[in-house]
Amino acid sequence: MNTGISLAQFIAEQSAKAADQDVTDLHALLGHVATACKVIGNAVARGALTGSSGSAGTDNVQGEVQKKLDIISNEILIQQTEWNEHIAAMASEEMEDIYPMPTSRQHGKYLLVFDPLDGSSNVDVNVSVGTIFSILQSPAGKQPSAADFLQPGTAQVCAGYAVYGPSTMLVFTTGNGVHGFTLDRETGEFILTHARMTIPADTREFAINASNSRFWEAPVKRYIEECLAGTTGPRGQNFNMRWVASMVAEVHRILVRGGVFMYPKDTKDLAKAGKLRLMYEANPMSFIVEQAGGASSTGRARIMDVQPDQLHQRIPVILGSKNEVERVVRYHQETL
Ligand code: AHG
Ligand code: MN
Ligand code: MN
Repeated sequence: MNTGISLAQFIAEQSAKAADQDVTDLHALLGHVATACKVIGNAVARGALTGSSGSAGTDNVQGEVQKKLDIISNEILIQQTEWNEHIAAMASEEMEDIYPMPTSRQHGKYLLVFDPLDGSSNVDVNVSVGTIFSILQSPAGKQPSAADFLQPGTAQVCAGYAVYGPSTMLVFTTGNGVHGFTLDRETGEFILTHARMTIPADTREFAINASNSRFWEAPVKRYIEECLAGTTGPRGQNFNMRWVASMVAEVHRILVRGGVFMYPKDTKDLAKAGKLRLMYEANPMSFIVEQAGGASSTGRARIMDVQPDQLHQRIPVILGSKNEVERVVRYHQETL
């Protein structure tokens, strides 16, 4: 039997400690997002049993084929959180426009932003997927527009993810370290199992989709070639490689044992600045990674300093163990 601190207890303690209504309200919202993640985790786990595996036959605003579970997860997040009085509006990777709250609840203080199902290309093959979320402040006294979501990552008040793997875990930060909770399926509660997660500064493991290598820029090619050269190359040590194709699973691995993750700028499609989305993936994961002592960059700038100009904007991502991220950034500077 697990006697660890539950998410409900953790939230109550944090709220009592802060004695600040904004913190209490933020934690209440976090509790509702956690419930949504449990429901999504169940939907993902039941998959083919409920006929919800496979493609929905539609494209999202980014031109990507939607899985049925992308749409189901998006609906669950809305249903489970829209009645929270503190949300003013939501934005999702799976919705073209922002989702405003009913008129009676327009003046909530927070904006909720999410990737409802990350790594959904993995869902039919039973590999880990997840949900990524970010919470921003809403402008006071007015119904927010899409432009009000365009805040840099440094403005986030909370960010987190759930990973639906062998265990379902919820990991988040409110700017005071990174905390990981594991779902106890017997009680239905998230239990604190990973307090104050930290990323080691050094690593010998990298994650990148090497099928894109011919499209990479010179600094990324150099970094990966040096890793692959192992003990006989300039790094003088062997490196290991992983690629799950679910950012949540990659970031979770890095939080547990270190590593560097890259979806860098490439020349595959010049219309796209990167593959990953700034608001739904890059910013929340950067907040978590930095709070755990890691670093996160486009290769040319700190991700959380980038001023977004579009809701669905894409961006290059290099994140994880600090010394390796700094090395990749240095390689970019040296080739300028
Ligand atoms: P999503 O399923 O939300 O569209 O995100 C998938 C992302 C990310 O999770 C992963 O790192 C990357 O796309 C995988 O891309 P490739 O299929 O190009 O490897
Ligand atoms: Mn995603
Ligand atoms: Mn997604």
